[in-house]
Amino acid sequence: MDDNRELNIVTGAFGYSGKYITERLLARGMKVRTLTGHPNHPNPFGDKVEVAPFNFDNPDALAESLRGATTVYNTYWIRFERGDLTFNRAVRNVETLIDAARRAGVRRFVHISITYASADSPLPYFHGKGVIENFLRGAGIAHAIIRPAIIFGPEDILINNIAWSVRRFPLFAVPGDGEYRLQPVFVEDLADMLVNAGQEVENIERDAVGPEIFSFNQLIRTIARTLGRRIHLLHVPPTIALAFTSLFGLVMHDVMLTRDEIQGLSHNLLISHDPQTAPTHLSKWLARNAATLGVSYASELAKRA
Ligand SMILES: NC(=O)c1ccc[n+]([C@@H]2O[C@H](COP(=O)([O-])OP(=O)(O)OC[C@H]3O[C@@H](n4cnc5c(N)ncnc54)[C@H](OP(=O)(O)O)[C@@H]3O)[C@@H](O)[C@H]2O)c1
Repeated sequence: MDDNRELNIVTGAFGYSGKYITERLLARGMKVRTLTGHPNHPNPFGDKVEVAPFNFDNPDALAESLRGATTVYNTYWIRFERGDLTFNRAVRNVETLIDAARRAGVRRFVHISITYASADSPLPYFHGKGVIENFLRGAGIAHAIIRPAIIFGPEDILINNIAWSVRRFPLFAVPGDGEYRLQPVFVEDLADMLVNAGQEVENIERDAVGPEIFSFNQLIRTIARTLGRRIHLLHVPPTIALAFTSLFGLVMHDVMLTRDEIQGLSHNLLISHDPQTAPTHLSKWLARNAATLGVSYASELAKRA
């Protein structure tokens, strides 16, 4: 094996977006090491990808695991707080990672954020992402900040579980009027953008959004039409929708939708005001994947076990 290959780090190479980033880096002849909270999970890349633990509590060991790398691709984040892993803790973890990358001599840090990340946001998810963006801008390391709105692909949770529900129930409870909009991006397009951003030299910040914008109502109807189902949308106050999905989550042993996610949606935070940056149409992808979409429920908590 060629030992002169450039070493890249991907956090979460066995996860959702991290898997696609890793595939692309390997295809470009890079050597990849992943940092993960599950170093003992089966490694789908075999000996093509080295594995190291996150080591957020041991910054020196973390920096050591980054030494020799030119670029870090960071997917690490949490969807919701659980136990002692709060959003503040996740922010500190990413700041520790950025600082370790700088100390280890990494040239470029490519970070996945979210549309409308802002330290001024009252929503913990968007606030935490905004705090990290500010930290990265001042960290003294070349960087790219890529902001997807909502990601779709075979391993997706939200769109898959909407389809799962549409396949089983004639009613769909929509938080509020459902006229708020979202602009999904295909996971493979996102991975292309990230890996291309890793090759650039200047600091860049870009939204990662596809060519279609749906209202939430349109999204549910598009999924139902694609699956050949009739669906009645029941518009309920967001608090009722949250109570309903929390109850449903208890039954499914999962967290289906969080308060942050409902508020992010209903405040139109999952779209971009910039031109589209990714080519794949969700509607066409849904049609191509109608046979498998929503057949099984995708559980976030089972994924994290
Ligand atoms: N999915 C979306 O629709 C969406 C939309 C906008 C922005 N984003 C952002 O895109 C990035 C990648 O998202 P993704 O869906 O591809 O993520 P993912 O694969 O589920 O997870 C990415 C990384 O975060 C770690 N992680 C996730 N949840 C965790 C938890 N509760 N506790 C500890 N570690 C956790 C994973 O650890 P392991 O390696 O141990 O699995 C993995 O290393 C994230 O920064 C996310 O905020 C996602």
